Amino acid sequence: MSSSILPPSTLNDFGKKHVTKGLARISDGIMVKGKGSYVEYLDGKKMLDFTCGIGVTNLGHSHPKVSRAAADQCMNIVHAQCSIAFHEPYLRLIERLLPVMPHPSLDSFFFWNSGSEAVEGAIKMARALTGRQNIVTMQGAYHGRTFGAMAVTKSKTVYSDSVAPLMPGVFSIPYPFWHQHRLPPSIPPSILTEQCLYQLHLLLSQQTSPKDTAAIIIEPVLGEGGYVPAPKEFLAGLRAVCDQHGILLIVDEVQSGFGRTGKWFFIEESGVKPDILLMAKGLANGFPLSGIVSRKELTDKLAPGSMGGTYAGNAVSCAAACAVADAFHEENIMANVQARSQELFASLNALRDDQTLAQYILDVRGRGLMVAMEFASSEGPGAAFDPATPKGLTVKKGIASRVTKKCIEKGMLLLTTSVYEVVRFIPPLNISQEDMKKGCDIFAESLREVVREG
Ligand SMILES: Cc1ncc(COP(=O)(O)O)c(C=O)c1O
Repeated sequence: MSSSILPPSTLNDFGKKHVTKGLARISDGIMVKGKGSYVEYLDGKKMLDFTCGIGVTNLGHSHPKVSRAAADQCMNIVHAQCSIAFHEPYLRLIERLLPVMPHPSLDSFFFWNSGSEAVEGAIKMARALTGRQNIVTMQGAYHGRTFGAMAVTKSKTVYSDSVAPLMPGVFSIPYPFWHQHRLPPSIPPSILTEQCLYQLHLLLSQQTSPKDTAAIIIEPVLGEGGYVPAPKEFLAGLRAVCDQHGILLIVDEVQSGFGRTGKWFFIEESGVKPDILLMAKGLANGFPLSGIVSRKELTDKLAPGSMGGTYAGNAVSCAAACAVADAFHEENIMANVQARSQELFASLNALRDDQTLAQYILDVRGRGLMVAMEFASSEGPGAAFDPATPKGLTVKKGIASRVTKKCIEKGMLLLTTSVYEVVRFIPPLNISQEDMKKGCDIFAESLREVVREG
């Protein structure tokens, strides 16, 4: 017999009263079911999910193969603690991941629960392996909310407001994102690459000498900073600097990894070898699991016991992740990413080409199904100095969140990102052509309404 006493209709208010205000939410109500590209709420409303729970349910909600694998594992063993013994799903997952690693040298694995924990582990490994303390991160980076991850996060002040001191020894350089350089969106990637690499060389001469620098950490597609894929020349430039000075390159693919950009990992596009690769989110399609992958030659130097965690590499999560990897092959997911990506870009570019909307749209960018539209703003950060600020056109602050709010009212979950006016599209990688069209139509209608309302 259930011990619940509150009527379901009062639960939303109960949540508002008893769940910390520190947690923000984009929609009201209680999510009760998820199937494929849709979620349902307690009051019966059904929403098309273009957020995937922030880039996690890449194979859609409650994918039958993944849920079944997890349920079966639950009936065998749930908690086969990783410091007590190996468990089979952990090893079967490694067996499946080895062939899709972006470089064959990546052959030593540690599984944890969240992306933030993976970042913490990577920082710890980099310091331990190099005997150096400092970490170079990117302006606009997001790596998580725990203390080490928060210290290398530079996307929004809200993540670390009033909680200093943060982890010391963190330095940052600009990302090859035109906004950060006060340049227009049309600037060639080669110029942005040169600007950033020049700043890195200055940093290593003026602020943290190479002999004190353990690692450079980078999201190859800047996520919370604005959904910006890094040019391959920039990634190659970072690799060269790391090689020159014995600095480790940590590639954070927590959001961009596992098929999101149409490749297993976005770094593949550049051919650059990470020293440490981080993954999470889509890896287990919603079961908590993250991975830190490096090369055996490096990880063999770690003291046994220096890595670990009560729930690290949980058996149910690993079994789910094995099913995710199998489904990618069986359901030809990458081909769907390519086809739906073309449709999404075509729809967003058509809006940009529309005379009535063109002046409001600064950029359409991304890769695969990690895509963004950036709007013009009269009031963005540093707007007075920003050449991207529209001339003779006043755009009210918050156009991106007004558009996403309208989409939510019309039945589609959609997120913004960054301190700029950016909307991000992260639909399921197996979304149907019909649902992609539906999402694009809801977005276009919402944008037109917001522009009409001024
Ligand atoms: C690139 C990147 N790294 C790390 C994290 C942190 O992951 P988690 O929220 O699982 O701790 C995120 C989360 O959005 C992310 O996008």
